[in-house]
Amino acid sequence: MNLVNKTSKTFALTTPLYYVNDVPHIGSAYTTMAADVVARFQRSLGHQVLLVTGTDEHGQKIQRSAASLEKPPQEFCDQIVPSFINLWEVLNIQYDRFSRTTALNHYAIVKEFFQRVWENGDIYQGQQKGWYCVSCEEFKEERELLDGKRCPIHTSKEVEWRDEQNYFFRLSKYQTKLEEFYQSSPDFIQPPSRRNEVLNFVGQGLQDFSISRVNLDWGFPVSVDPKHTLYVWFDALLGYVTALLEPDAEATLANALEKWWPINLHLIGKDILRFHAVYWPAMLMSAGLPLPERVFGHGFLTKDGQKMGKTLGNTLDPISLVQRYGSDAVRYYFLKEIEFGKDGDFNETRFINVLNADLANDLGNLLNRTLNMVKKYSTGKVPSIDPEAIPNENALKAIGLGLGEQVKQAYTALAFNEACHSVLSLVQASNKFIDEQAPWSLYKQGKQEEVEVVLYTVLESVRLAAYLLSPIIPNISSDIYQQLGWGINFNDQTETSIVAPFSTHAIWGLLSDKQQLGTPQPIFKRIDTLKND
Ligand code: MSP
Repeated sequence: MNLVNKTSKTFALTTPLYYVNDVPHIGSAYTTMAADVVARFQRSLGHQVLLVTGTDEHGQKIQRSAASLEKPPQEFCDQIVPSFINLWEVLNIQYDRFSRTTALNHYAIVKEFFQRVWENGDIYQGQQKGWYCVSCEEFKEERELLDGKRCPIHTSKEVEWRDEQNYFFRLSKYQTKLEEFYQSSPDFIQPPSRRNEVLNFVGQGLQDFSISRVNLDWGFPVSVDPKHTLYVWFDALLGYVTALLEPDAEATLANALEKWWPINLHLIGKDILRFHAVYWPAMLMSAGLPLPERVFGHGFLTKDGQKMGKTLGNTLDPISLVQRYGSDAVRYYFLKEIEFGKDGDFNETRFINVLNADLANDLGNLLNRTLNMVKKYSTGKVPSIDPEAIPNENALKAIGLGLGEQVKQAYTALAFNEACHSVLSLVQASNKFIDEQAPWSLYKQGKQEEVEVVLYTVLESVRLAAYLLSPIIPNISSDIYQQLGWGINFNDQTETSIVAPFSTHAIWGLLSDKQQLGTPQPIFKRIDTLKND
């Protein structure tokens, strides 16, 4: 049965489905911010985009969290889920689907998928013995454990011994097929360090893994043996599939996979790489489905050098950060300051310094001083200049001409920090250009034509910079665009209407005298002191 019918103009991407054992922290927000940037960028290229996020609500970890508050698990989940939805709104995340693994339609998808794998002979019963980390919801090898039988990721948690009858998935059967797949799809796992990690892991020999639990009620029953509950990860990964169903479609695999499958990009943290890059493709192979195109494992956000996490209790509250500094600031800092793929530490002083330097000083002042100069040394309108007539050696045009393509490549490679650095180089060059060209003295000398060229060149450079940063700082970019005379709000972009296509707006020279310049207003207020909670 061919279940997939995807056209090349669609782009589906996912964040992980977050555990609801607690309210979200900045670590959970990090992937979602990155995903939103990718979604906005892909939309600007004219692709039909589906951004999937959601929550992972089954399993022992959630059951215990609920029990500790003496709440039934479903009620507990229902109370936590809105905090994710609210955070996405606060962070200006434009997701298309929010997938909850406790949804009824998800159960139907899981059952159908399980049946395919079962019929393929890849599920059998066996004895599971081993050390289990409830926080990871994963068995650990004894050699991975820290002293005191602690989990290497949740370092304050001891693993628990399990010895029980479980159903197993025949992962070992897919060893060769997976290895062949990694070879034929070298870009499947990114960045390369994560790919190597996976190749090493798989190269050591794959073992079957258990996909059911006994003595646990909080999960879907295994259809062939309802005493067993389906392992939370088996059900969670399929949440990506359920999310693809149109809201009123019957919950069948055929319907779910019809338009958006295979997923183009799974964005995840490095701790859940094995699930996405090994278990998931093997499960899909077993069910006879095409594999996702790309899995990107980013690093951890740390605080004082330790992974920030709900289990460790050292989290940073994103809502409070946004309330103090705004969503663009938070998005900008994490995407510009941390190389996507590497770990990055959060420090509030550095956070403030970066925002002041880049957004308030470099970008904000540039726009402000240029708009003021246009008023003072020219007609207050965009100078009537033909951008083609400006020599390609012009310091800003020289950067601007290749910038769109460069930034496109950076976004495509998820090198958000490089995209920001490239744009900033134009912004900084613009400030330098003004100082060197000194339009005020050209004006005094009566060199009006030269003044106009300088002013046009700088205005156009600010425009281009604002456009290229718009996936990351949509509010600030919209403000800049509006001051440059465009009634464009980058948040209005939808699947069917692109407010500012990349193919025209990423090209240097778009600004024209048709634009009515607005009143100069600060786009980012300088943050003066370190404010505390
Ligand atoms: N429920 C699973 C995912 C199932 S996907 C089908 C899960 N949830 S989680 O809430 O624990 O983590 C979700 C994501 O948040 C993971 O990608 C994880 O790496 C990420 N982060 C959690 N803490 C983080 C940091 N401190 N820094 C960066 N990302 C972090 O795993």
